[in-house]
Amino acid sequence: MKSFALSILTTTIIFFTLGCGGDASAPAANGNEPKPKSMLAGEPDPMQDKGVGPITSVELGATVDEAMAEKGKNIYAKMCTACHKPTEKFIGPAPKGVLERRSPEWVMNMILNPEVMIKENAIAKKLLMEFNGSPMANQHLTQEEARAVLEYFRTL
Ligand code: HEC
Repeated sequence: MKSFALSILTTTIIFFTLGCGGDASAPAANGNEPKPKSMLAGEPDPMQDKGVGPITSVELGATVDEAMAEKGKNIYAKMCTACHKPTEKFIGPAPKGVLERRSPEWVMNMILNPEVMIKENAIAKKLLMEFNGSPMANQHLTQEEARAVLEYFRTL
């Protein structure tokens, strides 16, 4: 029985080693390796995810509303910079470029309703894990204030 288990183990190790050897000899860093599509196939497009909360639709103007962005910048400086830097990762992620990876509705819901977002929204849950379980704080902004912060994020 013992030797049977041992031979299974040995076989497994041989297969594993051969498998790894195969991978290691594959061409590296030529930029042509196929992406692991199978892992992405089932994932929904994050830009279509509006999150969970009071915001179901946000209209962004063709250009940034400078006055609104300025208001948002002040709110952000007061309420958010304990954990966020504008362009670098800090306790939370940098908001620079956030609208290229999230919908505007998702961003506002994350600001207004983070407790529910980190429980019910797949992207927010994953983000919480990435940030070692330190949760985004609800700063109790009004919808208008959150909208102004969103406009400020467009300028980063
Ligand atoms: C106590 C610290 C803390 C404060 C204060 C805070 N946040 Fe966060 N925020 C986080 C952390 C940590 C995350 C990432 C983990 C998570 O989502 O729980 C996050 C995530 C976010 C995200 C998602 C970013 C992304 O890349 O998807 C946005 C947007 C955000 N915060 C905006 C704000 C705004 C706006 C304020 C101020 C009104 C604010 N946060 C205040 C800690 C904080």
